[in-house]
Amino acid sequence: MKRLSVGFVALVVAVGAACAQEKKTATITITAPDAGYKDTILKVDGTAVSGSGGKFTFTTPALESGKEYKFKVEALIEPNNYTKITRPREVTVKAGDAATLDLTKEDKALDKIVVRWVPTPNDIVDEMAKMAKVNKNDVIFDPGCGDAVMLIRPMKLLGAKKGIGIDIDPKMVKKAQEKAMEEGVAEKVVIKEGDILNEKDMAIASEASVVLIYIGDDLGARMAPVLQKLLKPGTRIVSHRFKLGDWKPDRTVTVRGADGDEYVLHYWEVKEKK
Ligand SMILES: C[S@@+](CC[C@H](N)C(=O)[O-])C[C@H]1O[C@@H](n2cnc3c(N)ncnc32)[C@H](O)[C@@H]1O
Repeated sequence: MKRLSVGFVALVVAVGAACAQEKKTATITITAPDAGYKDTILKVDGTAVSGSGGKFTFTTPALESGKEYKFKVEALIEPNNYTKITRPREVTVKAGDAATLDLTKEDKALDKIVVRWVPTPNDIVDEMAKMAKVNKNDVIFDPGCGDAVMLIRPMKLLGAKKGIGIDIDPKMVKKAQEKAMEEGVAEKVVIKEGDILNEKDMAIASEASVVLIYIGDDLGARMAPVLQKLLKPGTRIVSHRFKLGDWKPDRTVTVRGADGDEYVLHYWEVKEKK
């Protein structure tokens, strides 16, 4: 009886040791953009991972050997005080792996970019409309329209025919619609909730003859090829401060605002498609 129980204990210990051997952690070393307005926040499966200098190391729970495990990694990057970039990725590891993941590079299909509302002053909107030579035949489009100031003022002051705006923030869509109503131009304004990075939401742009923009460098660069594809030749574009990626402006001017500050405005005219 004594011999049997010793053998049994030995067997249990051996099986236990084998099981313990089979489970191992894995590490994922993640590199993310470092320089910015705020430190990048990195999460794995929704839990924040600490790091510094753009380097983060995540150790997985003990994993069974031979099996593949998928982890959802997401970086929240703030390159400046008005832009938030969400960069999601997935990484697959096995027990014992030492994986790496590079989140410094953008993926146009996966990354989401949102810019917060900062309105263009009224007198600068008027300068932009003047630069675009807005007239009564024009349909104005503002991607990221905020409270629709860039649609309402040229319609009221220069008699533009129609204004079209999209904004990702439903609160801004409501605000823009209310303002258009208050200003008596609601029947000439179409405001929709939409994402500049979604080509379907942007399809509405093909109706425009003038595009007025204030959206930041990151979103501007991402939107440029979509605008080039959708806009009719001859469409005039004026952007407050920010460029449209590699798309070189035809003209850039600096104007002084009523507040005494200098404002840079860029102008493009859409060329015939080759
Ligand atoms: C800098 S404000 C400009 C507002 C207005 N165009 C002006 O000049 O007064 C940018 C606006 O774009 C909206 N926005 C930010 N990211 C967007 C996105 N991905 N798609 C659509 N709208 C976006 C914001 O909600 C905000 O109202």
